[in-house]
Amino acid sequence: MSNKNVDILFNPLQLGEILINNRIIMSSLTRMRCDKITKAPNNLVAEYYSQRASAGMIITESTFVSERSYSWPGCPGIMDQTQVEGWKKVIEAVHDKKGKISLQIWHSGRATHSQLQQGLQPWAPSAIAINGPNDILNIPHEIPHEMNLDEIQLVINQFKKGAYLAKEAGFDALELHGANGYLIDQFLKSNSNKRKDSYGGCIQNRCKFCLEVIDELISIFGKGRVGIKVSPIGRFNDMYDEDPIELYTYLFQELDKRQIAFIELMNDKDEENAYNYGLPSSQSQTQNLYEKLRKSFTGVIIGNVGLNAESAAELIRNGLINAVSFGIPYVSNPDLVERIKFDLPHTQANPDTFFQGDQIGYTDYLPFQK
Ligand SMILES: Cc1cc2nc3c(=O)[nH]c(=O)nc-3n(C[C@H](O)[C@H](O)[C@H](O)COP(=O)(O)O)c2cc1C
Repeated sequence: MSNKNVDILFNPLQLGEILINNRIIMSSLTRMRCDKITKAPNNLVAEYYSQRASAGMIITESTFVSERSYSWPGCPGIMDQTQVEGWKKVIEAVHDKKGKISLQIWHSGRATHSQLQQGLQPWAPSAIAINGPNDILNIPHEIPHEMNLDEIQLVINQFKKGAYLAKEAGFDALELHGANGYLIDQFLKSNSNKRKDSYGGCIQNRCKFCLEVIDELISIFGKGRVGIKVSPIGRFNDMYDEDPIELYTYLFQELDKRQIAFIELMNDKDEENAYNYGLPSSQSQTQNLYEKLRKSFTGVIIGNVGLNAESAAELIRNGLINAVSFGIPYVSNPDLVERIKFDLPHTQANPDTFFQGDQIGYTDYLPFQK
């Protein structure tokens, strides 16, 4: 029996230059199963993504553009030919099933540790450490090196090279990781960017680095194949901005001028991280993120965080978002699209295998069987 309340999720959508078959998108999920030496996706990773190819579009796990961004052992890069070859296998496997796949292109900035990246000190907009332990090492974060203007340009060029290699690999699109307290987000937010030059201070200056990277990604992929993920009120990695609505209204308007394909908008209810970092709660800052930001961007907005098929369909019907992305549901339901369509039960994910193991908790979640 199909679920009529959520029919709208199955209307095709023009996402920039890409026509997607349904509005259910697989959100980026770091799973740490890539080769730890070459930092390239392997056959297991290709199998995992191909199992999820019925999504309207897959967004890959965070993929780094610099050795200074290796914060999760087993996460992939897009820096050399071996990694391109690994990604080609993934893309072919998804395309063989008529799926679409976008690379999430990423730099972790201060959210890593020199012990994870051969002694390299993390870089950030300002020399301010994350207040709390590193997730992998469980030791305090280091004070990062404040990037100078040459280093900012170097990282912009690394993003450009990553985009170039992603194009060579055959990705349908790019999503810039501008969320969750990684480098782009660190430049955007007022508590991690205290620079006195043209990359800090007012909102326009704090958005400059993000927009310069976006412009380089557009120069390689074209505006209709570039998107961004943002978390205006997220607290993960000790993030806070005094006025997220003003900041993201400006950013969305600038992205709108550039006519990029999509913005994946995280509407966090991140009370646990707010508490852990001693920051004000996300929901105390704003309750109506979609309503407040929708009017500033005319392209596709993908709603994310804590949604289900019914709540997403309602937001789409109300014109607040155009599509939905699911994270945790995609860990354990490779056929999520079919389960939503035919109102089938969902399998619960096991958090113990989110970031470790081989095929267990990764490719052994099977399609629904009667
Ligand atoms: C295991 C795991 C790994 C994740 N890895 C990433 C990542 O690499 N990049 C990213 O932008 N978000 C990442 N996220 C966040 C998800 O993409 C998504 O934004 C979040 O889970 C909220 O969506 P949901 O409520 O549908 O799960 C991760 C989440 C989980 C649970």
